[in-house]
Amino acid sequence: MSEFQAQANLRGKVAVITGAGRGIGRAIARACADAGAAVVCSARTIAEVQEKSRMIEAAGGRSAAVAADVCDYPATEALFAAAADQFGGIDIVVANAGVSLESRKVEHSDPLLWKQTVEVNLVGVFNTARAAIPHLRRRGAGKMILIGSGSRHRPNPGMSSYASSELGTWMLTQTLAVELQSANISVNELIPGPVRTAMTGFGEKFAPEGE
Ligand SMILES: NC(=O)c1ccc[n+]([C@@H]2O[C@H](COP(=O)([O-])OP(=O)(O)OC[C@H]3O[C@@H](n4cnc5c(N)ncnc54)[C@H](OP(=O)(O)O)[C@@H]3O)[C@@H](O)[C@H]2O)c1
Repeated sequence: MSEFQAQANLRGKVAVITGAGRGIGRAIARACADAGAAVVCSARTIAEVQEKSRMIEAAGGRSAAVAADVCDYPATEALFAAAADQFGGIDIVVANAGVSLESRKVEHSDPLLWKQTVEVNLVGVFNTARAAIPHLRRRGAGKMILIGSGSRHRPNPGMSSYASSELGTWMLTQTLAVELQSANISVNELIPGPVRTAMTGFGEKFAPEGE
């Protein structure tokens, strides 16, 4: 039993994880399921989240897979509605979906990729939080974890879109924390150290849990 499993007891809780098809989100989905939560795995690639969801169920957990693009607000709302319908409510939200689409200095950057990075990493996190809040309020309490990046306070040449979006997400985290405190909903940013995933160039299907 891992240290996390020994300490955490999420039995009876329902967690929605965005970007759960690969990498860090996939590992978080597994950890939540190991700790007893019903886990809704979401990303755009349905085959990947279905696979993760099936693995959770095969290990005795409860899970569902829902395809949603966090840049699409109605689709994100539908994700949370489906999760609440299936499991009776939502307690935990992990806004993990993110992209790093280019590594070029501003003067050579592709304006469309720059915008797309901010759309996923910042607007997507806003959409996730916005769609989740009514469900967490209905429960009378909740946890929202926004996956951030240390890049938000380190100016790295070529990483302007990623770093700028992550800095925005940090301010969004702090604002949400203050706005939702009275509703008993805690909001925290979690910054992983460097992890070998598809985003960091370790292949399409790399999962840190070693699957
Ligand atoms: N890896 C690191 O070293 C590191 C360090 C610090 C922070 N982070 C952060 O950790 C998070 C996960 O990164 P990772 O390295 O695990 O990346 P990854 O392996 O590339 O996985 C990203 C996940 O997000 C999903 N996703 C991407 N765009 C999406 C969208 N528009 N809507 C819904 N889902 C979307 C992807 O699935 P689809 O493409 O199928 O949608 C995938 O499941 C990111 O927010 C990243 O910024 C990573």
